[in-house]
Amino acid sequence: MSGLWSVSLGFSEPRLAMAAARQFERLPYYHLFNSRSTQPAIELATRLLEIAPSKLGKVLFANSGSEANDAAVKLVWSYNNAKGRPRKKKIISRMRAYHGVTIATASLTGLPANHANFDLPIDRVLHTDCPSHYHGALDGETEEAFTRRIVDNLEQMILREGPDTIAAFIAEPINGAGGVIVPPANYFAQIQALLAKYDILFIVDEIICGFGRTGNMFGSQTFDLRPDIMTVAKALSSSYLPISATLVSSEIYEAVVEQTSGKGVFAHGVTYSGHPVCAAVALETLNIYQERGIVEEVRKVAPQFQERLHALESHPLVGQARGRGLIGALEIARDKARKEPFQCARRHRKGCSDGGGRARRPSSRYP
Ligand SMILES: Cc1ncc(COP(=O)(O)O)c(C=O)c1O
Repeated sequence: MSGLWSVSLGFSEPRLAMAAARQFERLPYYHLFNSRSTQPAIELATRLLEIAPSKLGKVLFANSGSEANDAAVKLVWSYNNAKGRPRKKKIISRMRAYHGVTIATASLTGLPANHANFDLPIDRVLHTDCPSHYHGALDGETEEAFTRRIVDNLEQMILREGPDTIAAFIAEPINGAGGVIVPPANYFAQIQALLAKYDILFIVDEIICGFGRTGNMFGSQTFDLRPDIMTVAKALSSSYLPISATLVSSEIYEAVVEQTSGKGVFAHGVTYSGHPVCAAVALETLNIYQERGIVEEVRKVAPQFQERLHALESHPLVGQARGRGLIGALEIARDKARKEPFQCARRHRKGCSDGGGRARRPSSRYP
């Protein structure tokens, strides 16, 4: 892993530095509490809604992907309180998901290292199967049969818990930190049918997939997803400054507003939410994506990237090559035929020299 999937415009884009400098001179800070706002925050919210999937109608800013997903969880809970469904609060995530490190979002994350020693996950979070045919299929199971089985497992989980207790399902279009898991064809279509059947909201975490990486502006377009809530960060500002956003459907927004208006405030927000300098840099980032046709560029170069990546599958140590657009991974295998991995991960913490290579630094955050 060479980076955190974030510096989409490279490390020396002068226009982003200039956008920050201009905004520092104009207005270095103001908050967004009590119905106040700033020009860059208003413009950025407007621009995001122009390019986002159609259901989404409002934007809540924060500083990191974790906070954006955390806000999504709070909005889901608040929405169900507003709808008079106080029991409908559980959120289903997936094994190998990565959604952040706050108490709620580390719980949503489906990686053991993020739970161990932190007393996580919290009890309102459940994990269902990861859609990885490579890792999860039974012997001889086709991709279609595998997909049917894991979708059926999800339905059994919903029925076991009680559909009136399940509030939302959260997914990255392609799991990033969990190992670049590209879902099988029809996986999300079947998942979305289940969510509709049991009145469960869909939170799509676009924090890696957003802004062109999969060959469309959002992974939601690549996989035909219809999110009720969508979160973005990282490439939103090419990571030059910290900013994230939770985009929410008008239906959720209106229900929450109606419920909170009687009480005077929607008591959620952080000091640097929609910070004008971060918002100005994000706006300039979106301008550059548009002017330089970044999404088209991804579409142009992705076939060659994927072709060369997949050519490595013939290597004796590569179990699988997978990816979409400009996201890709190689699964390294000790025994290809048996999909047997190297036992590196277990020794990682002490420094791994499996395979005779150099000792590697331990990775604390991503296994
Ligand atoms: C898909 C996804 N969601 C959420 C996050 C959390 O974002 P942050 O590290 O900005 O809190 C990440 C970070 O890598 C991520 O990849």
